[in-house]
Amino acid sequence: MKLVVAGTGYVGLVQAAVCSEYGHEVYAYDVDQSKIDAFSTGRADEIEKFVMEPGLSNIIRETHGKSLFFSCDLKSIIEGTDAIFLCLPTPSNLDGSTNLTYFDSAAGQIAEILAKRKDKRRIVLVSKSTVPIETVRRLENIMKKHGVENFGVASNPEFLAEGTAVNQARRPDRVVVGCDHEEDFKILRRVYSQFIHHVRIKYIETTPETAEAIKYVANTMLLTYISFWNGVGAKLGEKISNVNIDDLRLGVTADDRISTWGSFVSNGAGGSCFGKDIASLIYQLRRLNVSTKMLEASYEVNEYQKVYLVDRAINEARFKFNNKTVAVLGLAFKKHTNDMRDASSIKVVEALLGKGVSQINAYDPLANATARQEFDPSKNILFEKIKYFDSAKEAIQGTQALFISSDCEEFRGFSRTIEDTVKPPYLIMDGRRMIPDYNELVSKNYGYLAVGSVVRCPA
Ligand code: UDX
Repeated sequence: MKLVVAGTGYVGLVQAAVCSEYGHEVYAYDVDQSKIDAFSTGRADEIEKFVMEPGLSNIIRETHGKSLFFSCDLKSIIEGTDAIFLCLPTPSNLDGSTNLTYFDSAAGQIAEILAKRKDKRRIVLVSKSTVPIETVRRLENIMKKHGVENFGVASNPEFLAEGTAVNQARRPDRVVVGCDHEEDFKILRRVYSQFIHHVRIKYIETTPETAEAIKYVANTMLLTYISFWNGVGAKLGEKISNVNIDDLRLGVTADDRISTWGSFVSNGAGGSCFGKDIASLIYQLRRLNVSTKMLEASYEVNEYQKVYLVDRAINEARFKFNNKTVAVLGLAFKKHTNDMRDASSIKVVEALLGKGVSQINAYDPLANATARQEFDPSKNILFEKIKYFDSAKEAIQGTQALFISSDCEEFRGFSRTIEDTVKPPYLIMDGRRMIPDYNELVSKNYGYLAVGSVVRCPA
């Protein structure tokens, strides 16, 4: 089939690459010429300047020029297309509503060109971005307004998690397709033919609005589950010294109905979806006069979770941040990515600067470059206090405290490096419970403060 993927961010590029791998002829379109130029090289270093996703550049290297093509010229690629996937950014407005500027603008351009196409075959406009429920009608209206003929609209949300997106796109747990007409379902069945009647993959056909809603309910439920563990399970471990959070997790998740994913207590969940989607669903439900108390609690627990270890350091470990040098390790929102969208580290750094630290030594194996942009001193003069390091060991040198803010594997079993590099009095704030053998450090007079446990400090 001939497919166009409009928007080459994480979602679009993975969709384009994996569809090209399955033998479709795929045209990935973006307004940003520099991205298109970089992707067209097929080189990992160029591709990863924009999208860093394990396995993705390998597919592009194999398929570009054969079944995958990149273009900034929508007009030249649209003839003969069976489906256009809209994979546009849908950021949050300040009030939590979704900003549909990119979506509308791409839909408008597509409509203008489709209205003049010579080939009048059925074409499906598929929304893959997370968009407010009923946005599919907005898409339909834009097409109608421009006089596009013989088209259908569909919602086909993506559920990819960063870092594992390629594998998940190759073998998703489910494919959700929402259409109004059988002929559109048929087109999408051909696009996803490898997933139909698969023993393990659920192929779900429904209305477009239900498909849109599935994405919101899934993401807000996942975040609520994380918030439940952070807001209830972790708190029991932090207040009652004989409650062991790791055993608590094992015991509770031994029940098949309760998932292990999400039960790992942390200094908050970040990423491109959770915060934005819950804010948007709150906004959508309020407009329908539905109580949003539950979602608000889940959102608030998560936001406070990002900074509360700094508060606990002051109140429970009696640590004074003023004029101290503190290392922040793990800047991306999780391991295996350079993405810092909604990352807990942003809130941590702001909180530490607010408490008067003299310097922050920052380190992430992948996200130092992203961090330099995120913490651009022209946005906030205090960001000048952040210095960047190429290893965790170098970053902790000369510090009086460290904060582990993501789950990078290299921080696990980090105690030896700490012992060899910095001497007590020293406070370790562990937002991801990455140091299981902390007792040894405590016995050598290091202070240890972890999410889910009571503070362990020398008397
Ligand atoms: C998420 C959803 O998983 C995906 O289905 C959706 O399409 C997009 O949003 P992603 O943002 O890539 O994917 O990250 P994910 O792996 O889900 O982690 C989100 C955050 O939750 C991370 O900060 C992670 O560290 C945190 N997390 C995850 C926890 O704090 N505890 C856990 O047990 C699991």
